[in-house]
Amino acid sequence: MNKKKEYDSVQKMITSLLEGENNLIANLANTPAVIFERFELLWVGFYFVSEAENQLVLGPFQGPLACTRINYGKGVCGTAWKDGEGIIVPDVDSFPGHIACSALSKSEIVIPIKKDGKVVAILDIDSEKNDEFNQDDLVELTKICKKLSFLF
Ligand code: SME
Repeated sequence: MNKKKEYDSVQKMITSLLEGENNLIANLANTPAVIFERFELLWVGFYFVSEAENQLVLGPFQGPLACTRINYGKGVCGTAWKDGEGIIVPDVDSFPGHIACSALSKSEIVIPIKKDGKVVAILDIDSEKNDEFNQDDLVELTKICKKLSFLF
């Protein structure tokens, strides 16, 4: 699989989805569907920041059942929220405090979506393979998260 070519087409598809629709849930539901269909992944989805509860709350996703809430600073997602930076986890067993929603997950990438500099949601992707994600994924997925940020 030529990942770059696949990402080019994913980027185009997400851009055109966003041009035709500005509803938050509709677009956050379709985005994981586009990514999940294109690559061989275990789980693709979003967590929303709930400032009132100081937790992330599960949003639209594709894949198996997932944890509904993650505390600030906990797991990969909570850490990305706290630090405001994307995280590549080549081996989930080596990430201190990793939250295993599925025992099948071996590697993970998490990217924060920011609005006016504040993290408002998290894009989380899990793979059944070790070392599935690299810097190119981080760049492409960060572009997607930037495209989505206007929805919040
Ligand atoms: N592994 C994540 C939890 C979310 S699930 O992977 C869908 C974490 O450590 O934050």
